[in-house]
Amino acid sequence: MAWYDLFSGFYDRSLEKLYRDARAAAVDALRLDPQAGLRVLDLPCGTGQSFDGLAAALGPEGSIVGADLSRGMLRRADKRIARRDLTNVRTVQADVHAITLEQIGGPVDRLHVFLGMSTFPRPDEAFEHLWSLLRPGGRAVVVDVFAERLGFQGRMVNLVARAEIRRRSWEPLEARAVAFERRDLPSLRSHGGTLFLAAGDKPIDPA
Ligand SMILES: C[S@@+](CC[C@H](N)C(=O)[O-])C[C@H]1O[C@@H](n2cnc3c(N)ncnc32)[C@H](O)[C@@H]1O
Repeated sequence: MAWYDLFSGFYDRSLEKLYRDARAAAVDALRLDPQAGLRVLDLPCGTGQSFDGLAAALGPEGSIVGADLSRGMLRRADKRIARRDLTNVRTVQADVHAITLEQIGGPVDRLHVFLGMSTFPRPDEAFEHLWSLLRPGGRAVVVDVFAERLGFQGRMVNLVARAEIRRRSWEPLEARAVAFERRDLPSLRSHGGTLFLAAGDKPIDPA
């Protein structure tokens, strides 16, 4: 994760404004009940740009585990936690393909995968593993960028984010979830393609 360690130095400056509305939409789609003491896995959490919105919607009873492979990104995330005094958020360094239930304190109620599916090296396997960490009846939200064909901006996004935005990144969730839904979000040229939000629930009784 040497690139993201470096990128962490200018990630927030470059991207924080660009995804603000999409982050709010993701929090909304997670259906977080502040009375329920829900646990969210935010993977990849990057510099923790989603923590504020998630923590506010979860309330003091809820909690967030932010996980990422890059130590540089996590250092920024930890600074954000301290700066904002987010006492119900902690981070762990882990690869999406190998993160364990022990690391996250058991199955979670919600999965938040924001700009992750286009960057994971093996997205289907990654999602399969993430899904195994979600409790039956839990809910997952995936937000990412999709471009059928790459324009100049799309190529730049792929290059800078080490991403592949031609992936249909919602499909692993669609294949597993019940009550699956997907919609496009307002997108700008600088996103490199169309931002989408996908959401669905893990069946309580897997067939
Ligand atoms: C485009 S950033 C998105 C970060 C954050 N979700 C956000 O919205 O700002 C992609 C993140 O994926 C992380 N990442 C890439 N491959 C990973 C892997 N195999 N396991 C865990 N995190 C990974 C990178 O370190 C980086 O922080």
